[in-house]
Amino acid sequence: VASDMKGLKAGKLRLAVVTTAKYFAPRLLGMFCQQYPGVEVSLKVSNRERVLERLADNQDDLYILGQPPEEVDAVAQAFLENPLVVLAPVNHPLANKKRIPLKRIAEEPFLSREPGSGTRIATERIFSEQGLKLKIRMELGSNEAIKQAIIGGLGISVLSRHTLALDAPMGQLAVLDVQGFPIDRQWYYAYPSGKQLSIVAQAFLSYLQQAPQFLVEVSCNTRPSDTELPGFVE
Ligand code: PGA
Repeated sequence: VASDMKGLKAGKLRLAVVTTAKYFAPRLLGMFCQQYPGVEVSLKVSNRERVLERLADNQDDLYILGQPPEEVDAVAQAFLENPLVVLAPVNHPLANKKRIPLKRIAEEPFLSREPGSGTRIATERIFSEQGLKLKIRMELGSNEAIKQAIIGGLGISVLSRHTLALDAPMGQLAVLDVQGFPIDRQWYYAYPSGKQLSIVAQAFLSYLQQAPQFLVEVSCNTRPSDTELPGFVE
């Protein structure tokens, strides 16, 4: 039980998370480290493909991804919502439209994450399920670069709503009201099947299982308000 581990003096926790998880994982770790000050934490942030490689090689204690691993035999459990939203510059003609058809979005120049990104895989799936193909204008290797390129007028994109937390250029991005969006996704923690978790990793997992409410509050509190995002719908 977590309370038995209060005396946990030292130990290491190695986490590897996909890029969008960096918007909440450090704050989550902050609370954990307050509870267990002796624990030394390392946090690796990469895209889905890299995180899966690390999982397959058993390089870390725990992993956080936007979709359970498929290729690797792993234990995976959802612990938090991770909605995908369509983002455009605030002055975009679609920013004040209601219930925009997905087909209309497919006509816009699109800013895509790099191959190997989980966000990209999920986005392509949504469009291809409707028989639609994205008009990719540019490929960018980070969520931050995509947000800046949207503001720069280069196109629109689909990103996790978590990317609007903290460093979002407030007031310059609009969440479009697109049919079928937000797409409900979840955050999963995972580790290779049969892996013997360290005591610290076990403590972190039980902390994670109790923390979701706190996390949801965090993501809500840091979410831009309706007034800042004209097209925002819950
Ligand atoms: P990504 O993963 O950082 O590789 O895009 C995010 C996700 O899978 O939700």
